[in-house]
Amino acid sequence: MTPTLFRATFMHTPSSPFTDAGALRTETDGGLLVDGSGVIVQSGDFATLHAAHPDTPVTTLRGGVLLPGFIDTHVHYPQVRVIGGLGMSLLDWLDRCALPEEARLADAPYARAVTSEFLHGLRSNGTTTALVFGAHFKGAMDLFFEAAADAGLRTVAGLVVSDRLLRGELHTTPERAYSEGKALIERWHGVGRARYAVTPRFSLSASEGILDACAALMTEYSDVHFTSHINENLREVQTVRELFPGSLDYLDTYDRAGLLGRRSVLAHSVHPTDRELGQMAAHGCSAAHCPCSNASLGSGLFPLRRHVHAGVHVALGTDVGGGTGFSMLKEGLQAYFTQQLLGAAGLPLTPAHLLYLSTRAGAEALDMGGQIGDFSPGKAFDAVWLRPPEGSTLDTVLNHASSPPEALAALFANGTQADVAQVWVGGDRVYVRSGVPAAAPQ
Ligand code: GUN
Ligand code: ZN
Repeated sequence: MTPTLFRATFMHTPSSPFTDAGALRTETDGGLLVDGSGVIVQSGDFATLHAAHPDTPVTTLRGGVLLPGFIDTHVHYPQVRVIGGLGMSLLDWLDRCALPEEARLADAPYARAVTSEFLHGLRSNGTTTALVFGAHFKGAMDLFFEAAADAGLRTVAGLVVSDRLLRGELHTTPERAYSEGKALIERWHGVGRARYAVTPRFSLSASEGILDACAALMTEYSDVHFTSHINENLREVQTVRELFPGSLDYLDTYDRAGLLGRRSVLAHSVHPTDRELGQMAAHGCSAAHCPCSNASLGSGLFPLRRHVHAGVHVALGTDVGGGTGFSMLKEGLQAYFTQQLLGAAGLPLTPAHLLYLSTRAGAEALDMGGQIGDFSPGKAFDAVWLRPPEGSTLDTVLNHASSPPEALAALFANGTQADVAQVWVGGDRVYVRSGVPAAAPQ
């Protein structure tokens, strides 16, 4: 790209509001100077930056708010077509909705179409980076990584492996899990904006042999990521206890295999014990909190206060398709509702927390905090411009907001996919809402 000075109202959280009351930074008439490689080199108020760089072309984003691109730390690519299966709890929903659909991804044309729908869902909602739960088929993962590269999104994803209690078509063997995982890592990990995540579906569907095959990959490729599910639903937790009589608890099934570390993200964590939280913190694991999914499947109310007090890092995930869509704004709002519903056991969240959880916290969970997550100099220009259509309710509310936190609260309370006007990754524009003229440098 050509070096550009972006002019916009922007907000970001370079630090965590859980530890820093001043974490929310805002510029009403802000400037972000982005160099030719898509990296922010200066961040501040527009007038100062423009005076210092009078010859740099300016792109003006008039109205709305520019935020760092959203980071979704738990989202299933094969489930985009089954979003909205209501009225079931986790294990029934898997059997009736998710797994029959996932079996269809054995067919390459089907998988290709789903990939494209999925990636459109991410970028049209302002998500620039995602930790993606993949498919059970190697071919579908090659298609996914190819399409994600074309879409320009940052993805951390991997082949999902299981060898029991799903449907036969979705089962593999430890040998195949290892050899197919190895081939995919060699082909995609660290290529362009892609990274690999070793992904056993959950301990319920994984023998010790599968978990050991995953661990072998992680020993051989020490910088890959790990993701799975944990402590989502009480029936699931009880079944895992019965399947692993030698393990202390759910976390221990992963821990014993050697799967936990700084790059491990465990989705849900609705019913953890104190021991598990202590161990997650000791390993530097993150929890992906998926509040819409937890509410929809009736999994429970996420104990955020206990995670934070135990020192477990928490980020947000949509969990499409157990979750109800790709919007990280909706996820932030539901995270807020969840803590309200917990009453005294809840951790009250401010608008700054919601922004942090949907951006910077995700970057930290993916060990990408040095590159993305906020608008500090040195970070890639990954951004979403939320510009509500003129005359919409959100437009009205934003125009009457009397402070940046109020405006941010309005975005989380009212914002939808329809408000996402443009999206950039590493300075490349990856989405423009139809009807919005693509802002060009002037
Ligand atoms: N646990 C195992 N698989 C899944 C899944 O696809 N969705 C959710 N929410 N939980 C799971
Ligand atoms: Zn999930």
